[in-house]
Amino acid sequence: MNDQVFRSTAQLVTQVVDEIVAVVQQKPDATLCIAAGDTPIPVMRELARRALAGEVDLSRVRFLGLDEWVGLTPQTKGTCIETLTTHLFAPAQISPRRIHFFRTDAEDLPEEIARINDFVALHGIDYILLGIGMNGHIGFNEPGVEVTAQAHQVALAETTKRVMRKYFDQDFPLESGITLGFAQILAAKQVVLMATGAQKAAIVRKTVRTAPTNQLPATLLKLAAHPCRFYVDQAAGQELE
Ligand code: GLP
Repeated sequence: MNDQVFRSTAQLVTQVVDEIVAVVQQKPDATLCIAAGDTPIPVMRELARRALAGEVDLSRVRFLGLDEWVGLTPQTKGTCIETLTTHLFAPAQISPRRIHFFRTDAEDLPEEIARINDFVALHGIDYILLGIGMNGHIGFNEPGVEVTAQAHQVALAETTKRVMRKYFDQDFPLESGITLGFAQILAAKQVVLMATGAQKAAIVRKTVRTAPTNQLPATLLKLAAHPCRFYVDQAAGQELE
């Protein structure tokens, strides 16, 4: 895992968007997976801006969902698909046919999971942009996760349930999520983990200093097939040497 502290959040965002654009220029039908959550929103916006300005053509890109809360419709404000739709898919006019997310309001969740597993097996992931949870989770891969896991349904950790209130207008009694598994994440051609803000400083330090363990899922990214890049801004990197 190569960690890099950026002087400003804007520089970090520019770096990530430059990388995504380079991937798409090389492979117009690349599969991109961008985490929801608050951290990557500036990346989504900048990518949409460049698409609208004609600086990158996203029309053939396949967008794969990383994770989703179980039990909410995709229109609910704060879900992963709603976040990506608001900040990227709608402004950049991405065709719904190019968007491959878990439908967690579907009746048959195992069928949904199988559908996404088949998609990843067929297309792989060219670039995955991840965020880190306050407990070190990646997607909804919570502490204790198997490193060999494919997409699966997970019981949300207590920390995640506490933190999730920031995403929603209402207090939803959510208990589980669906997430891509580490087997799929670690096989991606490029893996980038980003963290911004002082609230992430402690978990960033722990992740950098700890050997791979499923008790701190972010450390499992050190096992990625292609070395994971860990991009942090100065606030998130303040406890690093
Ligand atoms: C959320 C999501 C993750 C996200 C992480 C960090 O619960 N399940 O996909 O990357 O936690 O979120 P944020 O960027 O809002 O801190």
